[in-house]
Amino acid sequence: MTEHLPLKQIAAARTLDGARVAAEIKEEVREGVSEFVRLYDAPPALAVVRVGDDAASLVYVRNKIRTSEELGFRSEHHALPASTTEAELLASISELNRRDDVDGILVQLPLPHGIDDKKIIESIDPAKDVDGFHPLNVGRLVAGQADAAPCTPAGIIKLLKRSNIEMRGRHACVVGRSNIVGRPMAQLFLQHDATVTICHSRTIDLASVTRHADILVVAIGRAAFIQGEHIKAGAVVIDVGMNQLTDSNIIDELFDDAEEVARRHASFAKRGYILIGDVHPAQAAKKAAWLTPVPGGVGLLTVAMLMRNTLHAANRRRAS
Ligand code: GUN
Repeated sequence: MTEHLPLKQIAAARTLDGARVAAEIKEEVREGVSEFVRLYDAPPALAVVRVGDDAASLVYVRNKIRTSEELGFRSEHHALPASTTEAELLASISELNRRDDVDGILVQLPLPHGIDDKKIIESIDPAKDVDGFHPLNVGRLVAGQADAAPCTPAGIIKLLKRSNIEMRGRHACVVGRSNIVGRPMAQLFLQHDATVTICHSRTIDLASVTRHADILVVAIGRAAFIQGEHIKAGAVVIDVGMNQLTDSNIIDELFDDAEEVARRHASFAKRGYILIGDVHPAQAAKKAAWLTPVPGGVGLLTVAMLMRNTLHAANRRRAS
């Protein structure tokens, strides 16, 4: 078994630069899109389907559409009313599957009550499934044969690699077992030779497990849930959480740095909420060696990897 030296212990965690890595990936995709246009005389195209009026989904989808346009894709935003039935949504997807001028399809989750996520995801042509959520693509991922993995975990792997953080032999612990982040994240860590643990809401004595993780990924949707006691000194902590906090009294407790406290209060005054991850920022900064910020960390990578997956899907379709 390979022995690693412990990760360096430092006074305060350094920030893993999600923005830099996302910008690099987007630049690579932009070049790939230009090449695609030279070859096929038309841009690759992404169709994003959103149902209902979930405010967070609208922000995410607008961001995906804007980024795709910036990089030279053609994009379509199909905004369907909350009253859309499952049959109507299936018919919309069927049309997008059929159209030759659509390379990638993304149905933004969550869907309104009454629509079965599984049925919808299964109806997407696996060749156009840029999220990597279709069971065929999930199977390929588990078998180590995936061309494209779900965007958030794939982005986290890119971030670690491009930050020169070794995964081989290290204990990677994933907190959360969603199909979007936790499960595919664990598979990708396994493919990079990490020793992998998955924790979730039923895990007994969570801290006793997470405290041994060299790399800790948290995706549970609970603001500042992971505290100092959960983190090994010198660990790499990746915070996937994106929670809206509507009580400004907590800001002083969550951040030590006076400048950051002031920034957060200003942000709260402007919007009426602040975005907080699943990891307690001040406590994690004292224990971890590396930490992703919220916002500005993992979220940027998700969008960058969606662009990459869409370009890959378009190239594969043309090549087949
Ligand atoms: N909702 C939250 N994250 C995602 C994602 O990565 N893809 C889709 N389709 N919906 C989401």
